[in-house]
Amino acid sequence: MTPQQVQERIGQLSPWFYEFDLGALGRTTSELPPEALPIHATRLEMVRHAVHLHFGARVNQIRCIDAGCHEGFYSVAMARAGLREVHGFDVREASLEKARFIASALQLRNLSFAHGNCEDLTSYQEPYELCLFLGVLYHLENPMLCLRNLARITGEICIVETQVADEVEGSVEWGSRLWTRPYQGVLALIDESDEFYNERPETGATPIATCPSPQALHFMLKHAGFRRTEIMEPPAGAYEQLARRKRVVCVAYK
Ligand SMILES: C[S@@+](CC[C@H](N)C(=O)[O-])C[C@H]1O[C@@H](n2cnc3c(N)ncnc32)[C@H](O)[C@@H]1O
Repeated sequence: MTPQQVQERIGQLSPWFYEFDLGALGRTTSELPPEALPIHATRLEMVRHAVHLHFGARVNQIRCIDAGCHEGFYSVAMARAGLREVHGFDVREASLEKARFIASALQLRNLSFAHGNCEDLTSYQEPYELCLFLGVLYHLENPMLCLRNLARITGEICIVETQVADEVEGSVEWGSRLWTRPYQGVLALIDESDEFYNERPETGATPIATCPSPQALHFMLKHAGFRRTEIMEPPAGAYEQLARRKRVVCVAYK
């Protein structure tokens, strides 16, 4: 494709959520407000750090699955980092069309995309050493089902980035006033109807979203099949939400 053809296609596919740098071919401009845009630099830095710490020199031998990949920003970054194979899936075809265009403009032959829903991953059999689950968990109606599905197809680590609800400590009566059960964190129920029915491509597959508290995140990941979970320290100069730990990056180990 010539730079002019690429620019035309970028225009046809707009608006864009991410800023893709296509070198001499041009770039996409994100519709995100400028104050929110740095979130991607921080997340990318944290994902790269976690991948480097765990895989080190093995990085070019591993396969990665990017669940809820949107326009493929993180899939593209992993493919450019030289991973053996990167595969992204998402519930939204319009986002996948953009992802495929970027992969073809950059001639990334180790990168593929497909339609898929975290609620049913039966078409995926062979585990991927690395699973990316970024910015999706807090949009889901059935988070445990999706985490179990992802744990099944994760070979070594799953990097989960999520908004987190404030922690709530407490207990609930359980069959009698004499018996109680402590909370293992909480799931906040969020109504995403406005965004969902206005066809915002960042929402879940339904308008009902559940956002976990940090303790709930650890608890759910453990019960989904991960043996250890670790919330990463945000780097110096991190995007404000990650710095304030209202969003976290958690590495879950099989
Ligand atoms: C906020 S965006 C995050 C995109 C990207 N992972 C990132 O971190 O920038 C959420 C994405 O998850 C997708 N998604 C929501 N529910 C999903 C589901 N059940 N299965 C697969 N993808 C889903 C949405 O279509 C959207 O592309």
